[in-house]
Amino acid sequence: MGDQVNELLSAFSKLSPLLAEITEISGYLWEKGWAERNAGNLSIEVTDLFTERELVVGGGVRVATEYTYPDLAGRSFLVTGTGRRYRDLAKNAAAHTGVLRMDADGCGYELLGAGSGDPAFRPTSEFPAHLRIHEFLRQSRARQTVVLHTHPTELIVLTHLPRYRNGDAINRALWSIHPEVKVTLPRGLGLAPYTVPGTEALAERTVEVFRQGFSVALWQWHGCVAIGETVGEAFDLIDTLNKAARLILLCRSAGHKPTGLNETQLAELVQTFHLPE
Ligand code: 13P
Ligand code: ZN
Repeated sequence: MGDQVNELLSAFSKLSPLLAEITEISGYLWEKGWAERNAGNLSIEVTDLFTERELVVGGGVRVATEYTYPDLAGRSFLVTGTGRRYRDLAKNAAAHTGVLRMDADGCGYELLGAGSGDPAFRPTSEFPAHLRIHEFLRQSRARQTVVLHTHPTELIVLTHLPRYRNGDAINRALWSIHPEVKVTLPRGLGLAPYTVPGTEALAERTVEVFRQGFSVALWQWHGCVAIGETVGEAFDLIDTLNKAARLILLCRSAGHKPTGLNETQLAELVQTFHLPE
């Protein structure tokens, strides 16, 4: 038994670099004001970090999921707990995250360990959306393993303005305000209409956005979800978009309706940086 515990502990130490990155980015999310109270959550597929033997020693709590995810059978995830605060993750990410493994038929998971040692630890209430996105990433053999959700202030404000309720209009505005937005996000973001948080309906609307080829989904009146190969990459996408949203709102509050880059100037960026059309 002692050997098994040691094995589990050493397996979990493989998470240290990821936890260090979560700690750093959580601090930024808090400082930016995108993480009031328990706002936001993240998950990372960590299957490849562990050997089969390391995972079977877990023996933790089994929980059934409401829906089934056959393509995620046996896959493992590091996930933030529901009710946890990014400002606390910034101090000790391990204490507010858990590792779970989807069971062999993909209709539940086993909690292998939660850093807090809290038996009441449960994954984020947005776990349905995270699971659907990971399912899509796996089905499409995507390189991204990170799903990051936060409440970026200025992007949320844009979703309240009727003029930006259309995907083309909001992307055009975001690209036009600063050239690096088009370079960083040549496809822009995808809009998901308001849906009750934590629901399967929200999960489906979100995955639909990623299926269309976007890397960021903007939930109307709520926040953003981004995918990335690292937590930093997912953060950078939202940070770039939110900077653009802030520039738009600052121009408008200065009484100026910004026109910014025109179609020719955007096309020039596509050509210069070899961006997808
Ligand atoms: P959790 O605390 O359950 O992760 O919920 C936060 C959130 O932002 C819901 O959308
Ligand atoms: Zn949220």
